Amino acid sequence: MNRARLSSVYILWPTVFGENNGIIIKKNKKSGGIESPVNILFIGDVVGKPGRKALRSLLPDIKRTHKIEFIIANAENAAGGRGLTHEVMDELFNLEIDVLTMGNHVWDNKEIYNFIENEKRLIRPANYPPDCPGQGYGIYRAGIDRKIAVVNLMGRVFLQPLDCPFRVMEELLQEIKEQADIIIVDFHAEATSEKLAFAHYFDGRLDAVLGTHTHVQTADARIFPGGTAYITDLGMTGPYDSILGMDKAMVIQKIMSQRPVRLEVAKGPVQIEAVVLNMDENTNKVNGIERISQVLSQ
Ligand SMILES: [Fe+2]
Repeated sequence: MNRARLSSVYILWPTVFGENNGIIIKKNKKSGGIESPVNILFIGDVVGKPGRKALRSLLPDIKRTHKIEFIIANAENAAGGRGLTHEVMDELFNLEIDVLTMGNHVWDNKEIYNFIENEKRLIRPANYPPDCPGQGYGIYRAGIDRKIAVVNLMGRVFLQPLDCPFRVMEELLQEIKEQADIIIVDFHAEATSEKLAFAHYFDGRLDAVLGTHTHVQTADARIFPGGTAYITDLGMTGPYDSILGMDKAMVIQKIMSQRPVRLEVAKGPVQIEAVVLNMDENTNKVNGIERISQVLSQ
């Protein structure tokens, strides 16, 4: 049997390889605390058909083993690597994903204009101009009486000059904080510094700030002193043998030729990358954040 190396863990090929290579980072529990976890899964950017295949194959087991109660996924590349269609959105909801977030590719597939306004389980960055269709956050029920707010924001470093995500989040907090038990932000951004600055600024006021967009999972999952769970980037759910989900040769050609090349989603083995947030059932505060990175061969 071949062996492949993924991150710091040796893995077996050709079955499912890669285990939860992240470290479970837990806050110290107060003595006498009741261990009754609520687990939320946030899945990194789903890329095209391979991403959906990874979800179909790997999500049921992750859901079962981690006792997941609520699932969020970034879907801005879910339809052919660019944007989202109604059919693909339905496919993701049928996989028991509760909420879909987007990013700078939200408008890439024009079909989204037909349904983004009315689909409340789909959110796009809240700092787009106010007249953009759709919603920047949603509050969802999980379990019997727990309310989870999911907010989508975009960074501005090396991306479009949208409204300031810090100021928009401050305004949203006024609306959200009394309504929701848990607040999770998908901060869709390029620069690590901007992601860290945002998370530290809101430490203690948001339960999780989870980065998306770069498609490469970072090894910095942690809980900040104020209690906010953080990772710079969740990574990607899509083709493993690729450059950010796209065909390697095409990306290399584009970079080397410095001319436009129409990129296509890569083929081959697929991966899922995500984090699990372990929330305290009584306080709704985050107890732990665990990285997940698994690869499935053909
Ligand atoms: Fe993006």
